[in-house]
Amino acid sequence: MNRKKIVFANWKMNLDRVRISKFLEELLNLKFNSDKVDIVIAPPLVYLSDTLNKVSLSEVSVAAQNTFYEHNGPYTGEVSVDMLKDIGCTWVMIGHSERRQHLLETNEMINKKVLLATQNGLKVICCLGETYEERRQGKTFSKILDQLKRALREVDEKHLSNIVIGYEPIWVIGSGKAAELKDIKEAHGFISEELKNMYPKSKQLPRIVYGGSVDSNNIGEIINLNNVDGVLVGSASLDCEKFCDIVIKTEYSND
Ligand code: PGA
Repeated sequence: MNRKKIVFANWKMNLDRVRISKFLEELLNLKFNSDKVDIVIAPPLVYLSDTLNKVSLSEVSVAAQNTFYEHNGPYTGEVSVDMLKDIGCTWVMIGHSERRQHLLETNEMINKKVLLATQNGLKVICCLGETYEERRQGKTFSKILDQLKRALREVDEKHLSNIVIGYEPIWVIGSGKAAELKDIKEAHGFISEELKNMYPKSKQLPRIVYGGSVDSNNIGEIINLNNVDGVLVGSASLDCEKFCDIVIKTEYSND
């Protein structure tokens, strides 16, 4: 299936106002074909409005790195879908492994967030992936399937085109070495088949992006794999030159 590619920059808890400003100035000079590739930047929460203002006249979109699963109320420190929409944010990341690990996010919480975000018109990138131990024990596919099914529980088919699945094998995140191409291909093929099984009638299944030590050297091979619709970039997205290189190589990848 030919689908538009997508490149996410996940800045995590990095950069500051000055560096973000410089990055965006550089990024906005990049000539890219928005019919071929979507760019989505996920800055730290406090820089969300600033980033949105700076890219407002461009084809670049902005994602929050998280949201909460209630509309409002006594949830100190949390930010709602309504608030994100209020400032013009159109995307949200849900279920990143660092949040599952450090903030103890469960599949149930992730599902509630996916439901609320999609029902209220936000686009979602929902992340999943196995640990090294799970891969070693041959549990990769059962883990991925469990996370996928539980994250998308009760999600209406009409919202599937607003969802991107981010496959991120946990042990390669931030390691400087991406997963083996054959493992990426296999996992993406598996997710793609399972999505077809889950939604046999849907014509607009979620795109599937790979994340985990993507850089300007390995992007060319990764992006041309079957069922890889884009990438989620952490470390390499902090450097605008590297990030732009990844975007351009994605734009010029085979369909
Ligand atoms: P990385 O991070 O590119 O630094 O491995 C990816 C991610 O966690 O989304």
